[in-house]
Amino acid sequence: MDSFLIRGGQRLKGTIEISGSKNSALPIVAACLMAEGKTTLKGVPRLSDIDSMTKLVGELGCHVYRHEAPAGSSEGPVLNGPLDITVTDESKCEARYDIVKTMRASICVLGPLLAKRGKAVVSIPGGCAIGDRPVDLHIRGLQKLGAEFRTDGGNIVGEVRGRLKGCRMYLGGAQGPTVLGTINVMCAAALAEGETVLVGAACEPEVVDCAEMLNKMGARIRGHGTPEIRIEGVEKLVGCEHRIIPDRIETGTFIIAAAITNGELELRHCNLDHLIAVTDRLDEVGVKIERQNGTIFVSSTRRLSQIEMTTQPYPGFPTDLQAQLMALLCLGDGISVITERIFPDRFLHVGELNRMGGRIRKEGPTAIIQGVKELQGASVMASDLRASAALVLAGLVAKGTTRIDRVYHIDRGYEKIEQKLAAVGANIERVKEK
Ligand code: EPZ
Repeated sequence: MDSFLIRGGQRLKGTIEISGSKNSALPIVAACLMAEGKTTLKGVPRLSDIDSMTKLVGELGCHVYRHEAPAGSSEGPVLNGPLDITVTDESKCEARYDIVKTMRASICVLGPLLAKRGKAVVSIPGGCAIGDRPVDLHIRGLQKLGAEFRTDGGNIVGEVRGRLKGCRMYLGGAQGPTVLGTINVMCAAALAEGETVLVGAACEPEVVDCAEMLNKMGARIRGHGTPEIRIEGVEKLVGCEHRIIPDRIETGTFIIAAAITNGELELRHCNLDHLIAVTDRLDEVGVKIERQNGTIFVSSTRRLSQIEMTTQPYPGFPTDLQAQLMALLCLGDGISVITERIFPDRFLHVGELNRMGGRIRKEGPTAIIQGVKELQGASVMASDLRASAALVLAGLVAKGTTRIDRVYHIDRGYEKIEQKLAAVGANIERVKEK
């Protein structure tokens, strides 16, 4: 297993290319199970989670081929060549525990398999470091379309008699809308009989990106990006070409990297419209963000102000940037308060940041952050994807050396992060864990 060694204190300066969105590519690759013919996806990042998803659809009868990166292409980051996905065998319908246990997003094959093959056996996703993550809303939505479910040996077994049937349904839960639940049900409804109206749908850009790809495949989806999505079911979907949206969480992470090091970064191939609540909060903290077309310029020159922030469903402040913001606020003036509304237990980074000299107290779903003059390098442990990103950010500004173990967590969602940071002046290296 790898670790990162970071010697803090370098101001970041230079340009970073933002990769395609992990959280958009994952459900989109799963949705390709419903298409006849070849689908070509551009901008799919190279991440261990993507490898897990392509392995899963491969086991479910897809031929998956990643092209070499086209040299000098002007179409955005040339890190990765297009990904071709072609369904060659529709007899398979099981998503094995070995893959599902490594990646919860495997649940995204449930809707497409039921809609296209009438059967799905998906291992029930287990526990998660960020808290309780049931899939009851996915099941309830698919049941309303006519699927029948039972559990068997740790698996969700779903079957459809004949074809799914469209209907009007409410999809919200205790914590609000569900992102992958909305996408799962929307995919299934695309091949159902008649119209489906999803009320209380998630509005995340990843939902919109999937809907737009499905519409290129011949689906009839409207209202995506709003809480009410209308889907007119069609007989079949055919392969298409689609470019994945930029990763808004990676963008937000690098914006905070510039802020925490009082640096100056130019971020290319990103979409700031997807981060309005984030730029709003960071503006209040004292981070300057300017944009020109698809490029943004980030700088912060003065001491950071205290703020209050509550995570919310899109377009609110994303829970996936909560830990990174907390690392920044460790160095703010006064007392900041963060409340986590989406995953109330998502605070495994608190103990590790306090090991680096942070002064953070947790009370239920709220963290109270007393700003300090500086952080100190220490040995810390990554626990989940975004918590480990926060530790990298803290390490960039901490006095001395920080060692972060178990960085496989970060490889799940950040493409070549240490190379991107080193290219703009960070003193970071990947080493083998002791
Ligand atoms: C997606 O997860 C993202 N994952 C998460 O990012 C992100 O944190 C989350 O949306 C919220 O924005 C991917 O896209 C792969 P939800 P998802 O269903 O869809 C509750 C990262 O760091 N809920 O919107 O699984 C749930 O417990 C990851 O990249 C139910 O109660 O999240 C949570 O409290 C981590 N029943 C809330 O809804 C359900 O059936 C929102 O979860 C489903 C969800």
